[in-house]
Amino acid sequence: MEALPAFSVPSLYNSTSIAPDITSAIRKPMFFNLQLNPKLSLPDRKKLKSRLFTALSPTVSTELSTDPPADEPEIEGSTQKFDWYSQWYPVMPVCDLDKRAPHAKKVLGIDVVVWWDRNESAWKVFDDTCPHRLAPLSEGRIDQWGRLQCVYHGWCFDGSGDCKLIPQAPRDGPPIHTFKKACAAAYPSTVQNDILWFWPNTDPQYKDIISRKKPPYIPELDDPSFTRLMGNRDIPYGYEILIENLMDPSHVPYAHYGLMPTQQPKEKVDREGGRPLELSIDKLDINGFTADQGWSDSKFMSPCIFYAYSKPDQPNVSASSADAKKSSRQRKAALIFICIPVSPGKSRLIWSFPRNFGRWIDKVVPRWIFHIGQNLILDSDLYLLHVQEHKIMDVGPSNWQKACFVPTKSDALVVGYRKWLKKYSGGQVEWRGKYSGLLPPSPPREQLMDRYWSHVVNCKSCRVAYKSLNVAEVVLQLISVASVGIVAAMKEGMVSAAARNSLVVMAVLSFALSRWVAHFVYKNFRYHDYNHAFR
Ligand code: FES
Ligand SMILES: [Fe+2]
Repeated sequence: MEALPAFSVPSLYNSTSIAPDITSAIRKPMFFNLQLNPKLSLPDRKKLKSRLFTALSPTVSTELSTDPPADEPEIEGSTQKFDWYSQWYPVMPVCDLDKRAPHAKKVLGIDVVVWWDRNESAWKVFDDTCPHRLAPLSEGRIDQWGRLQCVYHGWCFDGSGDCKLIPQAPRDGPPIHTFKKACAAAYPSTVQNDILWFWPNTDPQYKDIISRKKPPYIPELDDPSFTRLMGNRDIPYGYEILIENLMDPSHVPYAHYGLMPTQQPKEKVDREGGRPLELSIDKLDINGFTADQGWSDSKFMSPCIFYAYSKPDQPNVSASSADAKKSSRQRKAALIFICIPVSPGKSRLIWSFPRNFGRWIDKVVPRWIFHIGQNLILDSDLYLLHVQEHKIMDVGPSNWQKACFVPTKSDALVVGYRKWLKKYSGGQVEWRGKYSGLLPPSPPREQLMDRYWSHVVNCKSCRVAYKSLNVAEVVLQLISVASVGIVAAMKEGMVSAAARNSLVVMAVLSFALSRWVAHFVYKNFRYHDYNHAFR
């Protein structure tokens, strides 16, 4: 999938190409460029010595030890266990939620319904189960008083989950709607960084959890001097595979060949230009790790966020301090990947590539144009990762270190992430016994790489574009048919031959254009297969 990076992000990692380049800003993310620019990845040897992890040298071992090397600094909190159910989880970017309807989402194996409470002007997250007879509330509607109505028998709930109406209860009978068992289960929720978050525990002791613990904060997403478009996609492989893939720049020249620019080495050893990468992890604890990728720093903020950001520009000794200051102000970008565990074999990705330059591009170009390229990048390694996950499950996720051979430093972040997962969570997400431990069976390729249900229906911009382009296709067909009809109905001599020919040309062009639009819509909004052998 991708290092979605290339999406719309300017070349964060390319120190010489941060000036906005429209083409690359639209089509290519830069996440990986950062890590692929040889000029940027020269490590400071002294620093490297103090790093906790790098991938193993092939001369050292063929297998990763799960014990820290002898010279590793003590890892803080090494005996702690990560509590997956005492964390804030992102649900969706607010820009892609429709206030008029409830939305079904699954996070951490929990089915939730997300809805807009206009009485409190707030997004609400409830368990997606009606207390009456367990119908999904997400199939319901918002009634005229702004309550969430279950459409099976009409029970209504306010923003706190309190039942406000049981239509079947006698008006002069006891107030059964006030019983605790009549309430919907409401999760604590909040909006931060334009993303809706929820706390996966409805116990009343967590009602005000926001006053004690907040979701991880990403300053660039709230900074008005940055442009920060978002995207989201449901992914047919698990959260672990998703996040480690986004931490791995070395696959970009191969899995995303031709889709995003990568810095080429002086001496190429192959068509794609792969090269050694000096990646390393600085500090790892239960809250994640920080890493050095050359001219970018990155952070894994457990469990969901991988965040890479440009280091301040190094002042040029020949430049005046004013120039250096200006340069530092002008060139800031970040790559933000939010990876959400949905269920075994399924995850959701929210991405954003904020930058404080070339902002006008995002004002002029609609978001769906960026999403076409970004979805293609996701598609280009989607099948690889889906199959890879099944193979890892075959050996057991806690055996990842034994099954994989990761001898170079380009895998350092992946190794670090797997180490974090093993150390603090036994090598896998805690599903609380909800699943059997098996992955869902692989669907046909068309379904696996479907774009419509995984993205378009969940993206406001793509949804509108999809509908508009479908209308355009029909209009073009009508023009074509009407032109042919007019020509056929006209009698000889009624109009000039030139006018007649123009109508014929219009019919042909309209028809051809309608076919092109249909193809464009199918390929970009429905299904786009990807064959690496012919790229
Ligand atoms: S199941 Fe919801 S009202 Fe009956
Ligand atoms: Fe989209």
